[in-house]
Amino acid sequence: MASGTEQLASEVQPLSGPLAGINICVVGAGFVGCVAAAGFAKFGHKVVCAEKDPERVAQLREGRLPFYERSLEELIKVNLESGRLTFSMDLERSIEGQKAIFITVGTPPLETGRTDLGALEEVVGSLSEKLKPGQILVIKSTVPVGTADRLTQILNRNGHPGNSIPIVNNPEFLREGSAVYDFFYPQRIVIGGELAEAVEVVKHVYRLGMTRPVPIIVTNNRTAEMIKYASNTFLATKIGFINELAVLCDKVGVNVLEVARAMGLDTRIGYEFLNPGPGWGGSCLPKDLKEFIGLADSHGISMQILRAVDEANRKQQDYVASKVRQLVGKLEGSRIGVLGLTFKADTSDLRDSPAVGVIQRLVSEGAHVTAYDPAASIKEARLLTEAQIVSSPYDAADGADCLAILTEWPEFQLLDWRRIAGVMSQKNVVDARNVLSAEVLERYDFTYVSLGQA
Ligand code: UGA
Repeated sequence: MASGTEQLASEVQPLSGPLAGINICVVGAGFVGCVAAAGFAKFGHKVVCAEKDPERVAQLREGRLPFYERSLEELIKVNLESGRLTFSMDLERSIEGQKAIFITVGTPPLETGRTDLGALEEVVGSLSEKLKPGQILVIKSTVPVGTADRLTQILNRNGHPGNSIPIVNNPEFLREGSAVYDFFYPQRIVIGGELAEAVEVVKHVYRLGMTRPVPIIVTNNRTAEMIKYASNTFLATKIGFINELAVLCDKVGVNVLEVARAMGLDTRIGYEFLNPGPGWGGSCLPKDLKEFIGLADSHGISMQILRAVDEANRKQQDYVASKVRQLVGKLEGSRIGVLGLTFKADTSDLRDSPAVGVIQRLVSEGAHVTAYDPAASIKEARLLTEAQIVSSPYDAADGADCLAILTEWPEFQLLDWRRIAGVMSQKNVVDARNVLSAEVLERYDFTYVSLGQA
């Protein structure tokens, strides 16, 4: 197999001749599985998405999504109607006659910080008996370096010698909230595999649907696995940098947003992911950073930069909590309204949300927190015993000594600040996402504190 660098210039070009879709099975109807299954169907492939949760399958068959992701429900509906997308609970039957089987099952963190490959290994093990030569397994779940080798061993033990069932690693770079856009307009496609024919199949899967040329990196499995972690941990590092810079800007009276803009115009730096906030969270960056540090540790290497990035992320939440403390004087007995619970806007996901981390800090010092989020499911949010969850931003502000904006939902810019000023006990606002206008807030006599915009 050619090395990644030799192939850097290669691109997936949109096909112009007669198009032929292939039969695909996507295993797992989580966030990645749903996007991939619906996306491949839209490309023109025939896709069965296998999922073991009967309730989820029933919902998806009706075109209803069990979580929020912009445009995804519509995409699923269109493809259900076209007949190119179906959902099934029968995993073994779902793989019959499929050329490529994309596995997207969860790879959650273990308590040690390393990755739990249990679900993935179980799927590969249980499929072993049914797999036939000519089929390929494509791993889309985020998996530690060396996983393809482990899976190949499982297949070898189960009657598939050598690379008779090739394993290809095809990491996803989908951001929650813009996953559908990212799927159709990727910045690159990474395909790692040892067998050229198997790699060609995955290239074809994408080639059929791309409407413009996309750089493709063809490499081996280990490199593809590494690219995913290196990308996510670099993004965490970039955010960590701007967050620390924001703290310094507060101290020295500089506007971090102006600095970030000027820095970002240097194409070597780039302006994306230079928005300071209460820290990075979600289901990917935190777990991938820990796995990466753990992997390095197991090879006797200490990832100093990433350790510092992890530590700085915790401190960022302390810093945001300290801004609230400064405004109210003492957190003990104070009433704090929080706007935004999800780990970022445009998602209903609360996993490892920095907003929750900040709330925990406030509550641990005796504050009473009332929180509102436009998308976090109230049921899930109520599991956060730390805060009282309300269904309107005005209820969160009611009687509060300070209002803290912890997620950058655009609707917070459209709030009626006169009304909020009327219901708050003290007119203090901490805008940890820099989404509000100081001018508007000052018009209503708020004491407004942002992040790094001194
Ligand atoms: C991340 C990566 O961006 C995707 O490329 C990757 O595919 C995905 O993980 C994954 O591995 O599945 P996601 O977890 O959806 O995507 O979230 P991001 O958009 O990366 O944001 C992560 C965190 O960083 C959020 O808490 C967000 O608020 C924060 N952030 C991001 C900032 O504080 N500032 C920024 O400038 C950007």
